[in-house]
Amino acid sequence: MSSDAPSFLDTVLITGASSGLGAEFARQLAPVVNHLILVARREDRLQSLSEELFASHPHLAINVVAVDLATTDGRENLFQYLSGREITPTLLINNAGLGDYGTFADSDWAKTQAMIDVNMTALTQLCHQYIPGMKSQGAGAIINVSSLASTLPIPDFAVYAATKAYVSSFSEALRLELAEDSIPVLALCPGPVSTEFGQVAAREEKKFQISGYNLLYVDKEQVVTEAINGLLQNQPRVYPGWKVALLAGAITALPLFAIRAYMSNRPRKSQ
Ligand SMILES: NC(=O)c1ccc[n+]([C@@H]2O[C@H](COP(=O)([O-])OP(=O)(O)OC[C@H]3O[C@@H](n4cnc5c(N)ncnc54)[C@H](OP(=O)(O)O)[C@@H]3O)[C@@H](O)[C@H]2O)c1
Repeated sequence: MSSDAPSFLDTVLITGASSGLGAEFARQLAPVVNHLILVARREDRLQSLSEELFASHPHLAINVVAVDLATTDGRENLFQYLSGREITPTLLINNAGLGDYGTFADSDWAKTQAMIDVNMTALTQLCHQYIPGMKSQGAGAIINVSSLASTLPIPDFAVYAATKAYVSSFSEALRLELAEDSIPVLALCPGPVSTEFGQVAAREEKKFQISGYNLLYVDKEQVVTEAINGLLQNQPRVYPGWKVALLAGAITALPLFAIRAYMSNRPRKSQ
């Protein structure tokens, strides 16, 4: 890490580091930080990422922590693993998340519960666990991965969009609370990105294909680069890609009745 880099670029905890945006965060941050903590359920994926990163950045300390963040035990195991080693993250990237594409009435409750637990409970509890340490060590920053979906209610994606509305709202409030401690908080709100997200969100009998999504794809490298730059510039929110940013601006300027009218007439591909 160069001497003029912000002090939060030291010990970085990334949830959901076994694929997609989380692995990309690890790859882009590896050259500029000292320590990475890679968290997800698939330990083999985390181990091979760790080996790849260590081979090209031998200065790095890397911890792999395989836990299920949807469970209380999984989250406690993570906290105990880190406290036992006296590790406090200086940058927390709450990236783990999942969607479920299809009507709410037909949803599998176990998947819905896991989505709520990972997207909201784990994200909130990790902030609660590590903000005190960030304050006392005088170095901290948080990226919470939300979504363009946070900006409007989406039929067939109802719970997912609602969880991301929570993430954006929580992050904005937390940012104001932590301003006096100089702990920046960024809500990253990507549109569609090609990762394993679509596969996980799809239900067996239906495809994951939201109307208009194809026009908005941004690659994961660009999403992560814009997020890191946004954090370094202390931005509250980043919508990566100009089309996504333009759309987000338009949606947030619309009155709720116009959003309702649009969403009720929009073609629904899950039916
Ligand atoms: N891709 C998109 O179009 C898109 C758009 C907007 C926002 N996002 C958001 O971006 C974030 C990253 O998603 P992605 O696109 O990179 O999808 P992804 O490739 O499916 O990655 C999701 C990550 O979350 C982890 N995860 C899921 N459930 C978990 C659990 N119970 N415990 C621990 N880790 C868990 C997965 O690891 P394991 O399976 O190994 O546990 C994986 O590493 C999510 O918050 C998502 O909502 C994605």
